[in-house]
Amino acid sequence: MPDAPAQIVLVGLSGAGKSRIGRLLAERLGWPFLDTDDLITEREGKSPAQLIPEQGERAFRDIEAAVIAETVRRGRAVISTGGGAFQRADNRRALAAAGFICYLDATPSELARRLQADPEGPARPMLGEDLEGRLEELDVERRPSYLLADLWVPVQGVDPEVTATRILRAWATGGPTGLSDPRRIERFAAEQPVRAPAAIVDTEDARYPIWIGSGELQRIGDRLRQVGLEGRRVFLVSDDNVIEHHGEVVARSLDASGIPGASYVIPAGESSKSTRMAAELYAWLAAEKAERRDVILALGGGVVGDLAGYVAATYLRGMAVVQLPTTVLAMNDAAIGGKAAVDLAAGKNLVGAFHQPAAVISDTDTLRTLPKRSFIEGFAEIIKHALILDPALLKILEQHAHGFSSGAPDWEQVATVTMRSARIKALVVSSDPKEQGLRAILNYGHTVGHAIEQVTGYSDYMHGEAVSVGMMAAVRISRDLGLVDEEFVSRQQDLLRAFGLPVVAPGLNVTAIMDAMQLDKKVVGGQMRFVVLEGVGRATVRGDVPPEIVQRAVSSIVRG
Ligand SMILES: NC(=O)c1ccc[n+]([C@@H]2O[C@H](COP(=O)([O-])OP(=O)(O)OC[C@H]3O[C@@H](n4cnc5c(N)ncnc54)[C@H](O)[C@@H]3O)[C@@H](O)[C@H]2O)c1
Repeated sequence: MPDAPAQIVLVGLSGAGKSRIGRLLAERLGWPFLDTDDLITEREGKSPAQLIPEQGERAFRDIEAAVIAETVRRGRAVISTGGGAFQRADNRRALAAAGFICYLDATPSELARRLQADPEGPARPMLGEDLEGRLEELDVERRPSYLLADLWVPVQGVDPEVTATRILRAWATGGPTGLSDPRRIERFAAEQPVRAPAAIVDTEDARYPIWIGSGELQRIGDRLRQVGLEGRRVFLVSDDNVIEHHGEVVARSLDASGIPGASYVIPAGESSKSTRMAAELYAWLAAEKAERRDVILALGGGVVGDLAGYVAATYLRGMAVVQLPTTVLAMNDAAIGGKAAVDLAAGKNLVGAFHQPAAVISDTDTLRTLPKRSFIEGFAEIIKHALILDPALLKILEQHAHGFSSGAPDWEQVATVTMRSARIKALVVSSDPKEQGLRAILNYGHTVGHAIEQVTGYSDYMHGEAVSVGMMAAVRISRDLGLVDEEFVSRQQDLLRAFGLPVVAPGLNVTAIMDAMQLDKKVVGGQMRFVVLEGVGRATVRGDVPPEIVQRAVSSIVRG
């Protein structure tokens, strides 16, 4: 095993704490702390804040590159780099050659808050007046380079001492494994860095990236490394349909990264989401001598994700799980948020846990093999996300509905809407990880939708189809409460129809649906709760909907 690298390099946006954490690391190691902005000031007699307006950004970046080239020759040191330095491939190559690169990451709003709270800090000429807006832009622009780092270090709300310990541990143990990857320097030196996460989930106990795009399954090794899971064994769980189409890509990807492990294939279908199947997986993990530090990979739709997530939550009191969703529904909904469960004879999802994944890796190429009906039903959740929180996404869906439902969609558009929609789910989950408040709005269309699934024995309607019909009931409830007009009801109906999603469930019994709703988990203190809309992107939960309004809405959807 090679020695731990001679330098630790901190990259990230302004406000991430590079100086503070860099000094702590230097103190603990007894190494010098070098801040490239300070070295530039020493060399030029002027600070970056003076140089950039005087000489222009380009000239400043050349000075910075020369300083970095000198700095990396100095031997042992903790180095903090200017926020933009890591954008240049030559800087990345130079810093990575001798250093263990750590990306300090927090949301732009958190960074803006920190910078505003520190008016004494250095001038930041690149940031201008609209601090948060500019940080958002820089985040999008620079994140792809930052994410090349050997270690991704979330610093949102984390004490700098804790962060310093985490970095030192990784540098001393995990770092050398990553550093021995023969493609490492090549990766840093590439002009076009790999794609950044589409979203991050950040709850009190967990923070994890969601990567979405074409070819993601080929990057599993890189992704595991980016979330600090390098050097572990992986236990892949999948179903027999998915493994047939995508097993080989995953196996090759793991092999190429030298990741050892084993796999277990379950029969496709909801019946595998059982305690019996969970017990089979426990026995397999035990036989394979899986350890707590190992990782479960869940490759498949919501069934595999829920089952493997549940097993990961419980085996050895909790192992890491990485979700590799392969259905539209799983990419946009099931894989994000940490709800894991198995079914009992008495009902669906009755035994489960909240167990956030360590990462979600959504390869949109996998959707190409999905049967058309499954592909379309997943869009019900995307449409739901647009209706409850994202008016811009709703417009995109309206413009491209026929393309998406044509059977030959524009795959880039599919990735784009998946990114936007997954981001909404991530945002809601991050704000309310245990479903105690805001997260309830994700149930738009679900009160009636679940009842439809239940009265039809989970056989006639796929989940998304039932939710689609349920959303029609919910929008009529919203209308009858005077929150939206008839035009809004038609707009939602037209969109669902354009996707080929059902808007009615003809022939069902109204009383049976009403009874099923009474038994739903969403009933609190005997009061049925409905998510209603007050307009596009504005959802709220109401527990006071008069029964006659509910009855009318349910009657409207069972008429064919
Ligand atoms: N945890 C959550 O928050 C959450 C949210 C929503 C739904 N769910 C759960 O998700 C499950 C439904 O998920 P689902 O709709 O993804 O079902 P699924 O996992 O059963 O997948 C549907 C079918 O498609 C096949 N398949 C999957 N990916 C494929 C691909 N890329 N190509 C070809 N075939 C493929 C599967 O083998 C299966 O036959 C339910 O059990 C539901 O309770 C969980």
